[in-house]
Amino acid sequence: MDKNILNERLMGPDCTIIVRELLYGYNNDNKIRILDLGCGKGLTSIYLAEKYKNAVIFAADLWVEATDNYKFFKEQGYENRIIPLNTSAENLPFAYHYFDIIVSIDAYHYFGTDKLFFKENIKPYLKDNGLIFIAVPGMKDDYEKVPQDLKGFISDEDFRFFKSIKYYENILKENIKEIKLEEMKCFNEAWDSWLATDNPYAVEDIELLKADGGKFLNLIGIKGKI
Ligand SMILES: C[S@@+](CC[C@H](N)C(=O)[O-])C[C@H]1O[C@@H](n2cnc3c(N)ncnc32)[C@H](O)[C@@H]1O
Repeated sequence: MDKNILNERLMGPDCTIIVRELLYGYNNDNKIRILDLGCGKGLTSIYLAEKYKNAVIFAADLWVEATDNYKFFKEQGYENRIIPLNTSAENLPFAYHYFDIIVSIDAYHYFGTDKLFFKENIKPYLKDNGLIFIAVPGMKDDYEKVPQDLKGFISDEDFRFFKSIKYYENILKENIKEIKLEEMKCFNEAWDSWLATDNPYAVEDIELLKADGGKFLNLIGIKGKI
């Protein structure tokens, strides 16, 4: 992806790097429907449209305007393959059993950390044997409070979004078959790409990453089928 586009549209650790690792080895040339849930500014939706040439991508996000993403998709030549919409994961406006695949990069931790969320709000929209691919920023372990080293960089309120692999396994395993959860290898690459942007949030995150020093933060990849 063009550096200027990344600079303008990244919202956190580079989602184009994360989605590439998460979907590595998964190919599909069929006419499928993919939901990119919490797609932000649409970078992963473009990745999905490029990789799955016969798929239709639904690019759904809460904070980013559908009109902004539509303009971006049009500029990239994907206006007929990617459908932008504003919606919340808590109340998806789709038919049940509609999607072959749901992908969610750096967004699921904002809405999906309650035990029943997946079963009630995500699973109904996947076809039988539909696939789920989630990547979230997390922690190497579960902590009750912000670890001392990260105080001042992550607020108590934001800390509730950071969970461990064990935590996600526990809340998801009953509803995702063949579930595989792992710490993603692209942590440094994805963060370095984000920290190299001039986004003011990235500038703040430089200090967070220094304070972390590789001790607490990770990226968690989750995949399986229903
Ligand atoms: C850190 S941004 C990441 C966006 C994008 N996936 C990326 O990696 O660039 C988190 C995204 O989660 C989305 N989000 C948060 N809560 C949501 C909800 N309840 N439903 C849908 N999207 C949500 C926000 O709108 C935001 O764009």
